[in-house]
Amino acid sequence: MRSLREERERLRERIVAGRPEGVARQHALGKRTARERLDLLLDAGSFIEIDMYQRHQAHGLRMGAQGPHTDGVIAGSGTIDGRRVFVYAQDFTIFGGSLGEAHAMKIQKVMDLALSTGSPFIALNDSGGARIQEGVMALNGYGGIFQRNVQASGVIPQISVVLGPCAGGAAYSTALADFTFMVHDTAQLYLTGPDVVEAVTGQRVTHAELGGAQVHGTLSGVATFVHDDEESCLMEVRYLVSMLPSNNLELPPSSPPCGAASEVRPRLAEIVPVEPNKPYDMRLVIAELVDDGDFLEMHRGWAPNVICALARIDGGVVGIVGNQPMVLAGVLDVAASQKAARFVRFCDAFSIPLVTLVDVPGFLPGTDQEFAGIIRHGAKLLYAYCEATVPRIQVILRKAYGGAYIVMDSRSIGTDLSLAWPTNEIAVMGAEGAVNVIYRKELAAAADPAALRAQLVREYAKELVHPNYAAERGLVDDVIDPVETRSVVARGLAMLRDKRKQTAPRKHGNVPL
Ligand code: HXC
Repeated sequence: MRSLREERERLRERIVAGRPEGVARQHALGKRTARERLDLLLDAGSFIEIDMYQRHQAHGLRMGAQGPHTDGVIAGSGTIDGRRVFVYAQDFTIFGGSLGEAHAMKIQKVMDLALSTGSPFIALNDSGGARIQEGVMALNGYGGIFQRNVQASGVIPQISVVLGPCAGGAAYSTALADFTFMVHDTAQLYLTGPDVVEAVTGQRVTHAELGGAQVHGTLSGVATFVHDDEESCLMEVRYLVSMLPSNNLELPPSSPPCGAASEVRPRLAEIVPVEPNKPYDMRLVIAELVDDGDFLEMHRGWAPNVICALARIDGGVVGIVGNQPMVLAGVLDVAASQKAARFVRFCDAFSIPLVTLVDVPGFLPGTDQEFAGIIRHGAKLLYAYCEATVPRIQVILRKAYGGAYIVMDSRSIGTDLSLAWPTNEIAVMGAEGAVNVIYRKELAAAADPAALRAQLVREYAKELVHPNYAAERGLVDDVIDPVETRSVVARGLAMLRDKRKQTAPRKHGNVPL
């Protein structure tokens, strides 16, 4: 018995240590090993590894029958702040972390366990994609993972972390997850690498130009979070998990109430200028509304004209959607619509109440946007709000014009509580634009068009966009003092906590994808 135990121990030590030259190369590339990453991500000593002994069973192309243990992926479960998660970390030192049949079976096993136990699933990717030597069995492995990603969607949170190459099939699993993290310099995410791109299109690009964190964090919107190093990246994964429920049957983890329901925030009256076209930073408003001024912003570098963030108000987790007047005056465009729509759907799937901060001049006009399908993409946001059954609070700070007013969680599409500041301007369009349309003939014939325009603008504003106009019609529930926004929202969230809303039975809706 003793020798068997010692032999077992020696083998396990060898497996855990890995190939020294592989580990050295990984470190030389500025990357941590799979096990070092798991140590950072999970609570100390909590990791339970499964399938450590697994090896591939492939033969051809010099693969041999006895491949390395783990088959290039460390899989299992651990805890984050004491809460269970399931996880895998690809080991680039073994076949470049590429995915063959055994590798895929291990990932699928932890995905099945995550789903059946109702626990978040976290993927640490560092892989050359489908293992070429295993041919269709590798492709089959990816298919099984995608299928599980989709079955788990909306049931457990799925987080994909890209810490090295993430090529081919692996890229789609990332896109199917709820959140994607990337690290500058070392992470690359693409369907086909630079060699294939050059062979097919003649275009020469580097790995980073094709699919680096900068590209996906600003242009494609694939990366939700971008970090400078692995450590801060994995710490932020822990922070994100701390705000998510483990599954769709649980509520998000709340902290004890902190007295927000009676707090006054004088700064709120100073941050937002009264003039409708003067920019300001909506993040300053959010910092005043949420506990400890602390919020986790998604897609900071992509579609920054809308802000999507998770935070706590009086201890309860909320999803905040806010127009950002500092960027493109806060208009909604194709990217902003997609970004906010996906976030709203995530919050709705995981019982996270929505707080929507409105200061929006409309949808961005122009051929670029129309040709890119703003109608289709704007409809995604509309659809997401219309179907959301979580508690919903709308706060109209300043402008709320046209279709963008409707889309930003207006009363007509089902908000539960609509609040407005005295600076609100809710209308089909701004006064100048409205006057130009409805008084075009009068203005053309006027001796002094500027004076007439000024007078008509005043009349329009007085009649149609005064602060109580929507409240008098029941479309706004209250006109609140800006400094009391945090307390009014906190009380509103408490009021809506037990909200239950059923939708008509159907297989699924047909969201305009
Ligand atoms: C088998 C692979 C591999 C793969 C890398 N390796 N990718 N083995 N299958 N897909 C092996 C290498 O042979 C090498 O083995 C080791 O991993 C390290 O790779 P290097 O090339 O030395 O590393 P590096 O220079 O850092 O480049 C990493 C890389 C490159 C950019 C990932 O290896 C690469 O371009 N790989 C191919 C990417 C790819 O096209 N994958 C297929 C995608 S198609 P040794 O023994 O020398 O250490 C796909 C289909 C699914 O995934 C589609 C579903 C939708």
